[in-house]
Amino acid sequence: MVPSVCLGLPSGAILLYGRAMTRNDETKGAAANPLWGGRFAEGPSEIMERINASVSFDHRLALHDIAGSRAHADMLAAQGIITDADNAAIQDGLARIAQEVAAGEFRFDPALEDVHMNVEARLKDLIGEPAGRLHTGRSRNDQVATDMRLWLRDTQDAVAAGLQDLLVALLDQAQAHAATVMPGFTHLQPAQPVTFGHHLLAYVEMFGRDCGRLADARLRLNESPLGAAALAGTSFPIDRDMTAGALGFDRPTANSMDSVSDRDFCLEFLAAGAIIGVHLSRLAEELVLWTSPAYGLVRLPDGLTTGSSIMPQKRNADAAELVRGKAGRVVGSLVSLLTMLKGLPMTYGKDMQEDKEPVFDAAETLMLTIPATTAMIAGLTVDKDKMRAMTSQGFLTATDLADWLVRAKGLPFREAHHVTGSLVKAAEDAGCDLADLSLETMQAVDPRIDASVYDVLTVEASVSSRTSFGGTAPDRVAQAVKQARARFLT
Ligand code: ARG
Repeated sequence: MVPSVCLGLPSGAILLYGRAMTRNDETKGAAANPLWGGRFAEGPSEIMERINASVSFDHRLALHDIAGSRAHADMLAAQGIITDADNAAIQDGLARIAQEVAAGEFRFDPALEDVHMNVEARLKDLIGEPAGRLHTGRSRNDQVATDMRLWLRDTQDAVAAGLQDLLVALLDQAQAHAATVMPGFTHLQPAQPVTFGHHLLAYVEMFGRDCGRLADARLRLNESPLGAAALAGTSFPIDRDMTAGALGFDRPTANSMDSVSDRDFCLEFLAAGAIIGVHLSRLAEELVLWTSPAYGLVRLPDGLTTGSSIMPQKRNADAAELVRGKAGRVVGSLVSLLTMLKGLPMTYGKDMQEDKEPVFDAAETLMLTIPATTAMIAGLTVDKDKMRAMTSQGFLTATDLADWLVRAKGLPFREAHHVTGSLVKAAEDAGCDLADLSLETMQAVDPRIDASVYDVLTVEASVSSRTSFGGTAPDRVAQAVKQARARFLT
């Protein structure tokens, strides 16, 4: 049984590094690799072994590798390629190895290069000769491509589930603050009043699209490369539909060369992940700004902030800063993998072993930064008075005033814009907000203005008037929360 996600080394798992790292050239006469060393008189040099080994990171694939092997062996038996007795021994052995891996007892040996050969060597220890029949009609090339797809499918599902939790936290806060007014910014300059709920719904749209990107990538990922063999397919009468079905894939991949040589499913995950990272980072940046005393709009719970060892007054939003900082790792992983693949001729090259660490690191990063963001959003408290007070700076209702001149007084918008600019200047000179200007002062700028102008100059009136679809009017926001729950929550 493959766990939903297998990111780290199970606790207690043993990696036999010591030998490979300390051996020197005196060991040049070491035995050739038992799994491929038939034509080799001696084993790999110490540096060859070190550059070649991937088990220090690809051990994460062990349970998915075993699941793939079990499906392959069942198919070989069903097709009469191996005997039922051999298959039974293979199934027993692999089930036992899965238990050892899950319990953290499996001993991964770097001298055996990678996870595939570690599992197969252990199978040989356990069941002897039938272990050698498992690799019939397949290669490590289709095996590793299958393992990566299986692992990534589970991991992507876990990342998507994490995003769902984040969406719920954002939607709950948006609902609670559908009518909480705050300044909306462009260029980080005060622009127009909005509600905090509306602001949060902007992120709901972003993370909702991120869920869509993952779901979309999953459709293309979910094809089985198993049976493509080394690159050309196999002469054994295998049944690729059977293994694809057993592993939950929608169908086998259609071209054996493509199957072993592309990693675009990894790129799609990393691209979606990089966008998620960027979205998380923008939200984190806002949390850093909002929680700084200069803004003071939002407070994070104690458990999600840190103090300073020297400045007792400090309350730092370290978690938000780390979410912002770690986005770079995911973007970097995407660039690594794109760069690794760009010059590779068909089909497999050992370069492709370098696909794993970027994918693992990006997944581990997202599995940390997404729940950290969820905790911050769920736990934040809003200082509504501070938000309201901040809307009185920056003449946020200037657009409302210009729109009123158009609507109530029939001015062309360009002229209304000009008149409003003069009124902003007058307010600036008087050191007050637009709503605090006397009617005489306003009429001195334009005699057509009358007292009903004051109805449009409050921030509440401003947000309430923005009832267009997708706008910030509190009723619209409350409705948008409901619609977003239906659109994005699965
Ligand atoms: N560890 C290898 C990888 O991750 C497995 C495939 C090895 N294939 C080969 N032809 N040497 O890519």
